[in-house]
Amino acid sequence: MRSHYCAELNELNVGEEVELVGWVNSHRDHGGVIFIDLRDRSGIIQVVADPADSKKAHEIAEKVKDEYVIKVKGKVRLRGEGLENPKLKTGKIEVIADEIEIENTSEVLPFQIGDKSVNEELRLKYRYLDLRSPDMLETFILRSKVTNAIRRYFDEKGFIDVETPVLTKSTPEGARDYLVPSRVHPGEFYALPQSPQLFKQILMVAGFDKYYQIAKCFRDEDLRADRQPEFTQVDVEMSFVTQDDVIEAIEGMIKEAFKTAGIDIKLPIKRISYTEAMEKYGSDKPDLRYDLAMVDVIDEFKDSSNEIFSSIAKDKKNNRIKALKVPQGDKFYSRKMLKELENFVRKFGAKGLAYIQVKEEGLKGPILKFLSEESLNKMIEKLKPEIGDIIFFGAGDKKLVLDYMGRLRQKIAKDMGLINENEYNLVWIVDFPMFEKDENGNPTPLHHPFTMPDMDTWDEENFEEIKSVAYDLVCNGYEIGGGSIRIHKEEIQEKVFKLLGIDEMEAREKFGFLLDALKFGAPPHGGFALGLDRVIMLMRKTDNIRDVIAFPKTQKAQCLLTSAPSEVDKSQLKELHIRVKKPKADNE
Ligand code: AMO
Repeated sequence: MRSHYCAELNELNVGEEVELVGWVNSHRDHGGVIFIDLRDRSGIIQVVADPADSKKAHEIAEKVKDEYVIKVKGKVRLRGEGLENPKLKTGKIEVIADEIEIENTSEVLPFQIGDKSVNEELRLKYRYLDLRSPDMLETFILRSKVTNAIRRYFDEKGFIDVETPVLTKSTPEGARDYLVPSRVHPGEFYALPQSPQLFKQILMVAGFDKYYQIAKCFRDEDLRADRQPEFTQVDVEMSFVTQDDVIEAIEGMIKEAFKTAGIDIKLPIKRISYTEAMEKYGSDKPDLRYDLAMVDVIDEFKDSSNEIFSSIAKDKKNNRIKALKVPQGDKFYSRKMLKELENFVRKFGAKGLAYIQVKEEGLKGPILKFLSEESLNKMIEKLKPEIGDIIFFGAGDKKLVLDYMGRLRQKIAKDMGLINENEYNLVWIVDFPMFEKDENGNPTPLHHPFTMPDMDTWDEENFEEIKSVAYDLVCNGYEIGGGSIRIHKEEIQEKVFKLLGIDEMEAREKFGFLLDALKFGAPPHGGFALGLDRVIMLMRKTDNIRDVIAFPKTQKAQCLLTSAPSEVDKSQLKELHIRVKKPKADNE
């Protein structure tokens, strides 16, 4: 229906007859001459309906309203000096309308296109209007380009794109499954995949050697700003590989993907161990755009005259005393702000927040009197404080201290403006523990139970010390992907299940098909999955994952556009042999 996209036109088209289609972005009547900003996917151009040129076109232009869909036939001309609009790509030209046709009308909009200040629920309900904004369009063009670059990369490297089922059996990624009832098998359910994990491993047993897929995954878990119940992974698996091989292949993909967004990622990406990440930054997904590393000072408190500190310092395995030196932090934080920092860490279980201020006249802070001169000197040697700095201390249970000091680190970086928003700081976190303790003190896998343990570290009594060949990719404080080398030998898999307390029956029932496959010549293999939505989110510099998913769900897992989930017909339930018993509160 068109000869050009609106914003494709420029001075070279002056004098040409063109046919344009699009939406009325805005319209103004200037004493008889009507100006319409016509918008399509490419951008905006000004259309002029002047009765002196075409009476008919002007009559129709008088009827148009915002967001009407119109067709315009006319001639391109220069706007002339003083009338140009530098804000528009097409700001030097305009189209004089010969004919205008109204293709469709529009009701008054519930909000202005592109207005981000309106309530998100309203934007999600009218998602098509929200998606009309140039900013949104840019996101989805980028997303499409990134997935294309990823496909090209893997295709060139000989990876095979294989689709795996969506109606399947439960997969072990640790979240709750979404279930789909079977009509044909009353009382039985499919699970939507939390990831294609088991299928991609089976494809390796099948000898496919290199697999990838841009796959939808489903997890019924508590939602956060970077989590959706249904999200997309770039899922990869390779045979006969070591951790280094997988990392190299993924780094190549990352380079290509970020290049699409105009971001240059330098390879190789640095690697730090899980232990280093936790001990220095208090997180397994540290934001390394700023330094602020914690320093261990537990030894310096061993001989402390304060009983609380000295008793904490006695148990080096389970406790930590960490110092966080903030350069020029004393100059930045007022007393009131320091109190706020203390309240902040209290929310995460801290009993208080001790600090030492580095003043011109010397060190200042109540904690000083608890330290011997020798210990203080050692600490000064480690921390090398300068005038204007402040040193925060966290002491107590290891997990708690690392967590709140890590959060404090992030808060300080934000408060003090230490973050370069244009930087993409990628880091591999390697040497993860294989297991962690669940709330009852029992072992649970940190990644999933098919991750290869580092057998040199195998020690059932001290299961928290067992390492795995697993790796996560982190960017600016977000976990953007994770993977591992897998167990390909039945006896190791059995050992892991046994430690996890999964007995043979349960293992057979849950993953029997994978265990069987491992019996038939499974090659050594490993892989990785990239959280595509999170990557696009970072590229677009938003911290809301919903901004980069065309039809996302709310925090309550609802789709406001379609009103899903919703009740279904009684007859549908009957066919599925399902009777619904609502929770009490809903019935009352
Ligand atoms: P994992 O569970 O770490 O690994 O998932 C891989 C990546 O997917 C992203 N991600 C999410 N993104 C948005 N919303 C969610 N709810 C969500 N959950 C995860 C994260 C994460 O790093 N099968 C393994 C991979 C493997 O071992 O090969 C897996 O799924 O960016």
